[in-house]
Amino acid sequence: MTTTRLLPADPDGIAAAARLLCAGELVAFPTETVYGLGASALDPAAVAALFEAKDRPADNPLIVHLGDDDQLDRVAHRTPLATRLAADHWPGPLTLVLDARPEVPEITRGGHPTVAVRVPGHPIARRLLVAAGVPVAAPSANRSGRPSPTTAAHVAEDLDGRIAAIVDGGPCPIGVESTVVDARGSRPVVLRDGTVTREQLGADDDGAAATAASPGARYRHYAPTCQVRLADPGTGPDVATEAAATGLRVHLVAGSPARDIPTTVVDGPDELAARLYAALRAADDDRADVIVVETVDATGVGRAVMDRLVRAAGRP
Ligand code: TXA
Ligand code: MG
Repeated sequence: MTTTRLLPADPDGIAAAARLLCAGELVAFPTETVYGLGASALDPAAVAALFEAKDRPADNPLIVHLGDDDQLDRVAHRTPLATRLAADHWPGPLTLVLDARPEVPEITRGGHPTVAVRVPGHPIARRLLVAAGVPVAAPSANRSGRPSPTTAAHVAEDLDGRIAAIVDGGPCPIGVESTVVDARGSRPVVLRDGTVTREQLGADDDGAAATAASPGARYRHYAPTCQVRLADPGTGPDVATEAAATGLRVHLVAGSPARDIPTTVVDGPDELAARLYAALRAADDDRADVIVVETVDATGVGRAVMDRLVRAAGRP
């Protein structure tokens, strides 16, 4: 057991977090998508500790976070497509998969010849990465198989006593993980949907095959302990009320509340993205049997949210 420090996101807190990262310690920090669990990406011992803290399978590679896109050439071989996508979307919620430079240890790459890289847009993440001055490997800061954390409290639930520090930067604005794109060829291939959409990327709509090629897609993901039941738009309160009438303990995520049922009211796909993981965790904390979630159109941002929801419901 280590004592996990909760650091404020002020200059002193960020400087302390940067020193810990450079010393090979594990530090969780906010990004615009979800909280990441950082370790110095070029330090194999730090990355090994990261896999252990998360109980993450060793063949699931990590995303390397950079403070600036100039640093891309330190870790990966740039392609014209990567240069264009980085110019359009960095800093921001887009991860590029490229051929790795030999400096990136095998453990960071999960044994793959490629490396995933992104420059996050969250100001606290950027300040921390710039202060650390080293590439930082950061998967979502949850225990493997749990929903990604979108607050510092979520990180503490999963990792208190297992990591050196958590930088508390409040809730993450987007709430679902970055779009992952294979940028080695001449056209972007989406490996994981996010809020940078296929439409924005000019990517083909060839989801299934590409997603299967993403190492992370093989694992059970985003799974709360309670059952996740999907309901058509507008039907959530009725579905939840019927389930509660059979004696189940029910939570609801919908456009409008249901009587006597704890409800996260969301308006549209962006708000659903921002609040979904918190709602899944709250249902588990309350020992709910079922969480009913109203679906959204699986287009644009809705595609990323529905991808997570369908996995959480156990119907990939
Ligand atoms: O928004 C995000 O991307 C967050 C924040 C913290 O940046 N990070 C995140 O990391 O979601 P993680 O480790 O939970 O998910 C990384 C995903 C996994 O599905 C992994 O398989 C995929 O990216 N990935 C990483 N390296 C890859 C590679 N070389 N080739 C293909 N997929 C890769
Ligand atoms: Mg994750």
